[in-house]
Amino acid sequence: MSRSDAMTLSDKIRHAANLARLAPSSHNCQPWLVRVFSPEFYYANLDLAAGSRHPLRQVLVLGLDRARCLSALPSLQREMRMSIGAFATLFHNFLRLQGLAVEARLVPEFGCALTDLGAQRLDGCEPLLVLLVGEEQGDAQPVTLARLQKTVEARRTLRTPYMRPQRGTPALHPEAALPYRLQASALLHWRHCDNEADIERLARFVGQYAERDFSDARAWAETYRFIDFSARSGSIEGDGFNIQQLTGPLPRWKRWLYRCALAPALVPLSARCGFTGRIASQLGELVGRSASLCYLSYSGDAGAAAQQQVLAGEAMLAHWLAATEQGLALHPVSVVLQHGEIRERLECLLAEPNEVWFFARLGQPIAPPAMQFRYRRTVEPLLC
Ligand SMILES: Cc1cc2nc3c(=O)[nH]c(=O)nc-3n(C[C@H](O)[C@H](O)[C@H](O)COP(=O)(O)O)c2cc1C
Repeated sequence: MSRSDAMTLSDKIRHAANLARLAPSSHNCQPWLVRVFSPEFYYANLDLAAGSRHPLRQVLVLGLDRARCLSALPSLQREMRMSIGAFATLFHNFLRLQGLAVEARLVPEFGCALTDLGAQRLDGCEPLLVLLVGEEQGDAQPVTLARLQKTVEARRTLRTPYMRPQRGTPALHPEAALPYRLQASALLHWRHCDNEADIERLARFVGQYAERDFSDARAWAETYRFIDFSARSGSIEGDGFNIQQLTGPLPRWKRWLYRCALAPALVPLSARCGFTGRIASQLGELVGRSASLCYLSYSGDAGAAAQQQVLAGEAMLAHWLAATEQGLALHPVSVVLQHGEIRERLECLLAEPNEVWFFARLGQPIAPPAMQFRYRRTVEPLLC
């Protein structure tokens, strides 16, 4: 009997959740929740998405934990849905690779429980996706699972300078990075820009506008709560990120300086002293030191956007994993998308007719990171 056969269904769900939590999320806020229901309870009280024609063993509802979501800017709603999309994609793949028959269904926008009891059991979870786990067994695929796990564990956000390759960036194959997709979308489009002159223009643009991160008091206060200024490194239980993931290793006095200068109450003063402007210019310089810039745009209408944002999270993750497989790193630069007026200027600069939902630098880091960090919370799929 293989290891996978000996595991119970709840062991497999827990194993998949444990790997899915390595998904990227904005500020590493990990806004996901998993609720597990019997098919009888689910159909009587929730019935959130199209059903299955096959007998089911269990139904998993994946959604946003309202208490953990970033909410200071309207655009962060999109980033939250993309983060869940990445998490759900990994959850789905790791369940199927363990031999479970799983069908994925997106919950329509404003989808809600059928009964008060159903709403009560969702308990703070805004449902975005349903995974229907069938009675019959598929084939466990330990080799593919181990390969995907290795890539998922190796994937990181690396904010160091990247090399300028001699012969352009190698083509990525996101379609090969994940064995299973939640749902295909013809409304999401990737574009890459590896022309030196365009990268320089975009680097100047980022350097010019990145200070906006600090000028919205509510948004900056929300961001600041996720920054850890301590000396910790390695695997850490929790959310957020370390200041040294942005700056590289810092002595204690410099970590203290950043902590004070970036404190929301002191940011206006730091801005007047040029401190936040310097951080913005440094981000612009980093963008200039990329092999290419890539972005994902959406060509559909606003009515379908919520579901497509979950799929955009899947597209983002597939791209990121494909880059990781090729030894490349990715660093999202979302500040230019979070404020409508800046995003529109960026779209103009890119001559992009569609709305840009994700924008990142891509390339091979000039050196491996001097320190490793992995902040993650344990995900406990709650049996309801
Ligand atoms: C939708 C989205 C937007 C992000 N935007 C930024 C960003 O603007 N700047 C940044 O440094 N990292 C950004 N990140 C990366 C997260 O900070 C990162 O995924 C998180 O800290 C976890 O770290 P890891 O990717 O190394 O596992 C973004 C991630 C997602 C999913």
